[in-house]
Amino acid sequence: MKILAIETSCDETAIAIIETDPKSATFRVLANLVSSQIKLHAKYGGVVPNLARREHEKNLVPVLVDALKTAKLYRPSSKNISVPEKVLSLLSRETELQKHFAKELSKIRTPKIDALAVTYGPGLAPALWTGVNFANALSALWKLPLIPINHMEGHIFSSLIKSKPNTNRFSLFALHFPAIALLVSGGHTELHLIKKLGRYERLGETLDDAAGEAFDKVAKMLSLPYPGGPAISKAAEKGNPLAIAFPRPLLSHKNLNFSFSGLKTSVLYYLRDHLRFSLPDVAASFEEAAVEVLVEKTIRAAETYHAKTVLLGGGVAANKKLRKRIAEVAGVRLSKTTILLPDLTHTGDNALMIAAAAAFTNKQPAYRELSAESGLKL
Ligand code: KG4
Ligand code: ZN
Repeated sequence: MKILAIETSCDETAIAIIETDPKSATFRVLANLVSSQIKLHAKYGGVVPNLARREHEKNLVPVLVDALKTAKLYRPSSKNISVPEKVLSLLSRETELQKHFAKELSKIRTPKIDALAVTYGPGLAPALWTGVNFANALSALWKLPLIPINHMEGHIFSSLIKSKPNTNRFSLFALHFPAIALLVSGGHTELHLIKKLGRYERLGETLDDAAGEAFDKVAKMLSLPYPGGPAISKAAEKGNPLAIAFPRPLLSHKNLNFSFSGLKTSVLYYLRDHLRFSLPDVAASFEEAAVEVLVEKTIRAAETYHAKTVLLGGGVAANKKLRKRIAEVAGVRLSKTTILLPDLTHTGDNALMIAAAAAFTNKQPAYRELSAESGLKL
């Protein structure tokens, strides 16, 4: 079965095409493209939702064409196929995308694909709608069923997909249950108990800022570029993580919730009160505090629920200190638990994880018109 997946929940326009093997939990990646808008948003110090939507409108059709060509599924049509009005009306709110769609899709014969998958939430509403309406229009034009995917479930799958060296084949890690997932991105910080794939129970979440958001905001205070996560980490390499005792919010609370707003404010006060400060020390001490609470709550959840696996997902899962620390602490406190970390190529937003979630969770493709749900919960 061939699945084409679309991801536009934030600032990456991503399309992937995979071919699954029904007899085994393996698949081939035929295309996996991400067109990043980071440089554009960096000028504004963060993602501007309407700019993101405009970029998705511009990028979706070219990325689709590229993906089909990469997957060798692009078949030019000898005569112009006119795109029906009914299909174009699905893009009536995305006028620029509608224009590209009418022009380019009239040149392509229906590719040999079995289903479309698309991220329908959570995320930035204007960004999500662009991808969802694009999927609706493709589904109507090519008469393909659709599979709606939760972006956070995609991040869970990013740690389950393992590439087989020197091939384009991937296998799905055989997850042992119960598992604990720490999902950490620019918009979310959540701990989930997974009893089986597709069944998630939220154990805790942030009460205010997301972890990635805290990295981004602290980076801004330090005049470091957006996105803040990688910039803080880099600056922290030369700093002393024990130099400043920033608070560890909610660490002593029994529940599995997080809070990062107080930590962020402490950094702000520290900078206000110290005209001369060491940027690497501030970055390293902030990172140390954030990582300590993320790791401690995750390990506690794993101990409480006797987890056989702990997995990480989301942009912040790229953080080296977090990856190293969780493995170290688990080695001491969770001797029988496997720790799964996503490849660094899959921590950021991508459509491969969306395709994998669509392929391996038994969601039935159906003919339907989807809506975006920016506040969707896992
Ligand atoms: O999952 P993601 O790419 O997009 C969302 O769905 O939000 O996550 C983006 C977030 C940003 O806040 C970024 O600063 C953070 O992930 N991030 C990091 C690192 N790389 C990206 N945070 C900490 N350390 C990193 N190395
Ligand atoms: Zn994400």
